[in-house]
Amino acid sequence: MLDFSFISLLARSSLLSIFPIGSRTFIFDQIFFIFLLLGTIVGIVVISYMVIQAYRYREDSTRKKDDIDRPKLGELPPQEDDGNKLLKSLLLSAVVVIALVVWTYGSLLYVEAQPSQIDDALTIGVEAYQFGFLFTYPDGYQSTGVLRAPVDRVTVLKITSRDVLHNFGSPDLRIKADAAPGQVSETWFLAESTGTYDSACYELCGAGHSYMLAEIIILEESEFEQWNKTKNNGN
Ligand code: CUA
Repeated sequence: MLDFSFISLLARSSLLSIFPIGSRTFIFDQIFFIFLLLGTIVGIVVISYMVIQAYRYREDSTRKKDDIDRPKLGELPPQEDDGNKLLKSLLLSAVVVIALVVWTYGSLLYVEAQPSQIDDALTIGVEAYQFGFLFTYPDGYQSTGVLRAPVDRVTVLKITSRDVLHNFGSPDLRIKADAAPGQVSETWFLAESTGTYDSACYELCGAGHSYMLAEIIILEESEFEQWNKTKNNGN
């Protein structure tokens, strides 16, 4: 497995604070926002240019067809500037696309790198089976179908499978990871508010796949500690 700690360190330094840092939800929202913003700007520029050109070369009663200096059918437009315009637009597009790729990749490396960086993270084992999930807490306590974790604290999940290929995911927490027999995949989440989040299996794994659901209950830190203390007494 690759060690991204160096990149994660870079991402945390103020030098590279252009990368979003926070919960997965925050990071993915930032990426979505940047793409939406750039897409909107490009869309406005392209459509405006098209409308302006369409207006410029319009045909109406005050202008005769032949007065307008426009290419005839089958004729190539004159090259006024030796393709400078084309070169500029290609360069601009390349800069935008490469910057987007680098920025998105850097942000996602941080998402991938974080688990090993956090000291006070809660680590929970997730074992998928036909058809459900077994959660194992650091003290060995196990529960099926319900995962409890504290708010505002990184929870690292070590995911594996007892039988066939499964996939553990929760859309609200922006997590999704393969559960493969004999392998452990690691992912993490940071819930920003308390409540109950849905999670499910995202890999067709048999007749009970659709019923392979689990709840992730996010508690206040104090509530979680309280539950953590009493859970072994038959809770
Ligand atoms: Cu397990 Cu689908």
